[in-house]
Amino acid sequence: MNPALSNHKNFSHARKGGVKKPMRILVTAGPTREFIDPVRFISNLSTGSMGYAISGEAARRNHKVTLISGPVDITPPKNIKTINVITAQQMFAAVKAEFKNSDCLIMSAAVADFSPRKTLTNKMKKKTLPRQYILQLKQNPDILKWAGGRKAARLIIGFCMESEALIKNAKDKLKNKRADIVVANKINKNTSAFGRGLTKVSILQKNGHMLNIGPSKKAKIADILLDKIEALWYKNFNAAA
Ligand code: CTP
Repeated sequence: MNPALSNHKNFSHARKGGVKKPMRILVTAGPTREFIDPVRFISNLSTGSMGYAISGEAARRNHKVTLISGPVDITPPKNIKTINVITAQQMFAAVKAEFKNSDCLIMSAAVADFSPRKTLTNKMKKKTLPRQYILQLKQNPDILKWAGGRKAARLIIGFCMESEALIKNAKDKLKNKRADIVVANKINKNTSAFGRGLTKVSILQKNGHMLNIGPSKKAKIADILLDKIEALWYKNFNAAA
């Protein structure tokens, strides 16, 4: 017997009602970088640890995982296709290419909301600039919203990180981005949302369910999130092999 089959999590659905087809899960992770010139960029504190934990857990459950990753310092989990990107536009292009072949998109990447209006070809020189310099930014495409508008029979999972009105903002994102689940993360000084530390999250579902988790390791959050995704997928879409 394949050792993976002996794990109760892998085939929890198989026992309940016939062997189920693995899902095709598309995960985005990490930050994006938006270049001002060849050496300077705008980015954020994301380390990619949540998206990598989700990808690893999904692969462990025998799902077919594609990970689209921004620049991070983590080795990708085994048995998954990894596509490395740097900018939000590159991440958008990769999601567009992979979306049609996926059953579920998990947007755990911290996509930069803005990028410089122009990226200079040559390094910007201080002496050519005034003492106060205004950098013009333009909004990047909202990848999650794009996917929500084309979801058809897919599950769409978003993340939200807020410093205030966490649950209200998460509920708004569920609706506005047509997501099935939003994982809401409060920015707070004790439990960092970034990196390998413990995190507190609330998992909100379209049907009104809300589960508060933590402070917990990201592996545990990934495990609970995958349980919810599988429950929705195999109940609603009943993807039997
Ligand atoms: N996201 C995205 N494309 C962007 C920005 C964000 O797909 N350009 C996704 C993130 O991956 C995350 C979710 O949208 O799953 C929430 O992102 P967040 O930045 O918190 O919310 P926004 O709705 O973009 O707006 P705001 O920052 O104003 O809350």
